[in-house]
Amino acid sequence: MFDTLVTWFQANKRDLPWRHTKDPYKIWVSEIMLQQTRVDTVIDYYIRFLQKFPTVQALANADEQAVLLQWQGLGYYSRARNLHRGAKKVVADFGGQFPQDLNDALSITGVGHYTAGAILSIAYGLPFAAVDGNVLRVFTRIFDIADDIADPKTVKKMQLLVTENIVHANASDYTEGLMELGATVCIPSQPLCLICPMQGVCKAYLLGNWMERPQKTMKVKPQKVKMVFCRIQAEGKLLLVHNPDSGLLAGMWAFCGAVLTHNALDCAKEIVSELGLNIMQVKKVGHARHVFTHLDWDMAVFDCFVQKALPIERPHAWVHLEEVAQYPLPKVYQKVLALEYYC
Ligand code: ADE
Repeated sequence: MFDTLVTWFQANKRDLPWRHTKDPYKIWVSEIMLQQTRVDTVIDYYIRFLQKFPTVQALANADEQAVLLQWQGLGYYSRARNLHRGAKKVVADFGGQFPQDLNDALSITGVGHYTAGAILSIAYGLPFAAVDGNVLRVFTRIFDIADDIADPKTVKKMQLLVTENIVHANASDYTEGLMELGATVCIPSQPLCLICPMQGVCKAYLLGNWMERPQKTMKVKPQKVKMVFCRIQAEGKLLLVHNPDSGLLAGMWAFCGAVLTHNALDCAKEIVSELGLNIMQVKKVGHARHVFTHLDWDMAVFDCFVQKALPIERPHAWVHLEEVAQYPLPKVYQKVLALEYYC
């Protein structure tokens, strides 16, 4: 039934850099980058990342900060950290070759069923399914499945259905064909049914109910939180702190900040004095906003000048202003950094 999809994919696929290789490491990098990030954004990052770390060995031997720097701006930094850890495991436990066994693949940090299925099918042509949001949409439409895709049981059921329909002669193009169809034809609203290779077998097309597929319970909106951040400065340097290894933006460089509890200026002064630093001057710089998956931060930003660039208790660095770009700052703090400086 899906032979048509494979043929359609071969004739219509977009020319994307990871489609010129069957190297499992490169496919792995692309799949991790493509989680939660659009294809257009990923392309440049993918090319630069592989220039810097062309092999799994090169990545395994790299310094974590260098890996995070290549990831800067892509967001969801745990992906980069896991990829790095995973590369070390592939070198240490699998002789530098991404494993072909599903359980071995799943033992790698950051590799779940979707990623394992994608790598094993795309790189090795093995009959494993890779079910992401696009594929769920394609399958719930073709088979007119009304189950709620927010329910893990539905996802399990869909994984079986996608597996049952694998085109064994070309599992690689089957996987990528499904992704491509979901990304370019079977799109969420206004799907291009008239040019769809699956039109003849698509139940939702036949019934005209494609707009009700997939069924999904409402997502919770990101919670709005007011924050205060301080760009603490002394002797021409800026204070960056290093986040702990768990929690939001784990292991990333950050500005000192806190949830706004009362007056923003007072909060800023408290943030600085709690670090044991001596405030000389505090000036409001402006606001920045950043939306994470679950949080929507409205950030009041202050320039806080302190007497000396003294060491503080938590992991930190006093960084010359012109060297800040060398630190892998997540997008949220790049926004804080980008606000004009008070002189
Ligand atoms: N999204 C996830 N994997 C992809 C791939 N291999 N090509 C295009 N988009 C994708």
